[in-house]
Amino acid sequence: KITPVLMAGGSGTRLWPVSRKSFPKQFAPLIGDETLFQASARRLSGPRYADPIVMTNSDFRFIVAEQLEQIGIAPGAIAIEPVGRNTAPAVLAAALMVADEDPERLLLVAPSDHVIPDADEFAAAVALGTGPAREGRIVTFGITPDRPETGYGYLELAGTGKGPQPLARFVEKPDAARAAAMLAQGNFLWNAGIFLFSARAMIQAFRAHAGEYVEPVETALREARTDLGFLRLARGPWERLPDNSIDYAVMEKADNLTVVAYSGRWSDLGGWDAVWREELRRNPSDDGVVADANSTAIDCKDVLLRSDSADLQVVGIGLRDVMVVATGDAVLVADKARAQDVRQAVTAMKKKN
Ligand code: GDD
Ligand code: MG
Repeated sequence: KITPVLMAGGSGTRLWPVSRKSFPKQFAPLIGDETLFQASARRLSGPRYADPIVMTNSDFRFIVAEQLEQIGIAPGAIAIEPVGRNTAPAVLAAALMVADEDPERLLLVAPSDHVIPDADEFAAAVALGTGPAREGRIVTFGITPDRPETGYGYLELAGTGKGPQPLARFVEKPDAARAAAMLAQGNFLWNAGIFLFSARAMIQAFRAHAGEYVEPVETALREARTDLGFLRLARGPWERLPDNSIDYAVMEKADNLTVVAYSGRWSDLGGWDAVWREELRRNPSDDGVVADANSTAIDCKDVLLRSDSADLQVVGIGLRDVMVVATGDAVLVADKARAQDVRQAVTAMKKKN
């Protein structure tokens, strides 16, 4: 069986005002009824999977426990990182936890904020990756790029064959010029942010390329305490850790990467424009209007209107390429082409308060 490791410690600021520091996007019902976290946990459940490990922080621990309970999934562990140090130490901690029992055990690390609607297609890709993972490879999943996105990692293919193939290079978050060049070159895929590997292979990769993480993470685990069923990693050693993602700390340096191309639908919902696009795919409309039950659009084209309360009705008249997102204490009104700048708005508000 594969042990799923759900990364649920981030706070997606680009989906403000629904995504908040205390309640980030993965826990909100952004698309459909389930939250992204619940959909991710469900995707990695069933006969082929062991109980999931959830890596998160203290603020989200009860949300995680409650949302798993709602969908009937019992966690193997909910581990609490005392301070945010990004994904690198979280991945190593999960690998070390599992290795105690069985170093050959496979782990599937997955973000908890992605939309991957086709469960069968996804399961098939994971199945393709298990062979190489058992042989000690770190398996990545590649998405066909359609724009020079700078917020993703890029996977350079070494060959052209079908099926799992070795990776020539992993480039995390290139600048715009480099991203455009890689797109033009054609033999690059986007990194989906999902990784399949044996506990032993990941620990080995850290020892080889990011040795400074090993002792603090081991100590944080050794000194961890269980509190109401949560595994609280020790603060002292965790604070000593570098703050870095697994992509920069390990993936860019590892020489044993394999990629499985994934052709199903995938979105990391990195902004309200992505939410708009995803909602339209689910409920196509000629005018491109996405309006929820608390919103009304009149003579609008390509707009997103949403409000999380019937007591706060949103009306749009004669709008084009505009997004309005209203919550109890905030309203976002933005040009649809500026979805990425919501992050800046959140930073600006923080400075003001
Ligand atoms: N437990 C934990 N602790 N989880 C975290 C932390 C942390 O400190 N920081 C972030 N996460 C979670 C996020 O909630 C998300 O589910 C996942 O880890 C990935 O973090 P992001 O911050 O969203 O990464 P990214 O989107 O910039 O980049 C990654 O994903 C891209 C695809 O969406 C990289 O892997 C890229 O290479 C990739 O293309
Ligand atoms: Mg992300």
